[in-house]
This record gives sequence, C-alpha cells and structure tokens, in this order.
Amino acid sequence: MNISIKEKILSQLINAKGEPVSGQKLADELNISRTMIWKHLKSIEEDGYVIEAIKKKGYVLQSIPDIVTPEQIIPNLNTKQLGRTIDYYTTCESTQIIAADKAREGAPHGTVVIAEEQTDGRGRLDRSWNSTANKGIWMSVIIRPAISPQFAAQFTLVSAVAITQAIQEVTNLTPEIKWPNDILINGKKVTGILTELQADMDIVHSIIIGIGVNVNQELSAFEESIQKTATSLKIENGEEIDRSLLAAKILYYLEKYGDLYVENGFKPIKILWESHNCTIGKRIRATTLRETLEGVALGITNDGVLEIKLDSGEIRGVYSADIHL
Ligand code: BTN
Repeated sequence: MNISIKEKILSQLINAKGEPVSGQKLADELNISRTMIWKHLKSIEEDGYVIEAIKKKGYVLQSIPDIVTPEQIIPNLNTKQLGRTIDYYTTCESTQIIAADKAREGAPHGTVVIAEEQTDGRGRLDRSWNSTANKGIWMSVIIRPAISPQFAAQFTLVSAVAITQAIQEVTNLTPEIKWPNDILINGKKVTGILTELQADMDIVHSIIIGIGVNVNQELSAFEESIQKTATSLKIENGEEIDRSLLAAKILYYLEKYGDLYVENGFKPIKILWESHNCTIGKRIRATTLRETLEGVALGITNDGVLEIKLDSGEIRGVYSADIHL
C-alpha cells in the first residue's frame, strides 16, 4: 500500500482522538523536517480540517470535513486490498463509467472510484440514479475474483449482504434486502447496487460493483416521484452519519464476504442473504423484460435465482426483475 506522508500525518491526528500529536515526534517518525510537517499540516487544513497548535504539546485535530476523500476513508479502513487505491472526485458523471474504463486499463483488484456528486448516476435497467452532492456514498469497486462468468451475478447478492451488515453496524438500523439487490429500511429504498461484468466466455476479467447509499439527504432532496419509495439513513434514524466510516465498513464487509464466497461458494452467503431478506414468503409481483408474474416468493436457488410459485401452482425461476411487494 502506498500511503503519502500527508495521509500518514492525518492518520496520526485522527488516531490521537483529540490528544495533541507532537510535531517533533511526527518529524522523527516520518524522517522529514519540522518545516515539511508544517507544510503538510497547512495542506491538510486547506482540505477543510481544523487543526489547533498547542504550544509545547503539539497539534490537535479539532474537526474533520464531511467528505469521502481517501484521507478520510483510509484511517477507518480494515481491509487487505479493497479500497487501498481510491480515486476520488468532487463531481463526475458516473463513478461506474470511470471504474469501467479503469478496469479495462488494468486497475488492480480492490480499486475504488468514489465521488461527492454524480451528474449522470446510473441505475439498473438504464434508469437514472439521484446522486445529491455530499449526501451519499456513490462508489464503484473493481474486483477481480477467480470465478467463472456464470457465477458473477452472485456477487450482487454478496454485495447486498455486505452493505446490509455495514449499515446495521454503523447505524443500528435494521435494513432488509429485497431481491436481488435493493436495500430497504422500513420498506423504503436506501441503497441500490449495479453490478457490471467484464469477461470472456470462460474467465472474469473484472466485476464492477456500483454502490449508491442514500446517507444524509432530507426527504426534499428526492424527486417527488420517488419520495414515497426512497429514503436515507438520516431520515430513518434522525442523525447525520459519517459517510467515510460507512464507506470503509462497506469495503470491509465486501472483502470479507467476497473472500468467503470465493473460498466456500454461495452456500454461506445464501444463508446470510436469507437472514436479511424481506422477499421470501411474501406475495409478490415480478416484472421481467418479457412478462409480469404474480405469486409467492419461495426462495432463492443456489445460483441466486428467485423462485416464484404462481397461483396456477407452477414454479418459475426469475433471473432479473423488478419486484413489487
Ligand atoms: C439501482 O438501480 O438500484 C442501482 C443504483 C446504483 C447506483 C450507483 S452510485 C455509484 C455507481 N455509479 C453509478 O452511476 N451508479 C452506481
């Protein structure tokens, strides 16, 4: 991992949790002059951090800006590979497009593209994705698992489990997964996942997992047409959430469950997915590209396919659909 000196200084300030960090100690540890330490501190302040210099004691981090820069995410990160390279944008069209280009250019496993704002955020089925500036997590993760293309779709379910777990840990809310990959809180959508594949017939080159989490929006940030069906974590628990902490937790669980899946197959993921889901056992309407099916959701198969028992008694497997509960 290649951490810059500036990131190292910031990490030390964050980890000190309000206690002073000695300038001399930083200079000795990083093997640079006090003047260079001071220059890096100025640059950190320019990014919006407030640092107080206390005579004879050192530097205290007074407040951190609400941004999802690598400097903010990395100190919270507990992963081996995911998020060790982060490409950050204040604004971009879509992190998914940038990540797809980067993946084709050979970006390593675990590379993350993250933005404060997307001007052309993309959802499933070519829909647009509302990506309000500075209020959500809009990120795309490039992974290169050693699996064959037929299993790639299961990574959507791996991702849903990972994000659910991360939200639960950071907020104490109880999210539920609506098949295949919508995450709901109190029946409203808080997260969408868009998984895209770059592969040949028999080998996966990369999977790009696009994750959109509505974090700190007020209801008015959503277009009127989706105000009844969309929500944010802040609306649901009444508190601002630290977006960089949540992004780091999502990456942690994505790595954990991604590794679990590659090593042990879909079975353990299926159990986790089922424990969080709100689709199975319910009467649903599934709109696929070709037809609309109504019946009871029986469960998911070992491939992640949703099985529906129609009123006629016939059991049908659905690979991709919009589900209405
Ligand atoms: C859905 O339709 O539910 C999926 C939404 C996925 C949105 C995310 S935000 C980050 C990444 N960039 C995009 O343009 N889309 C995905």
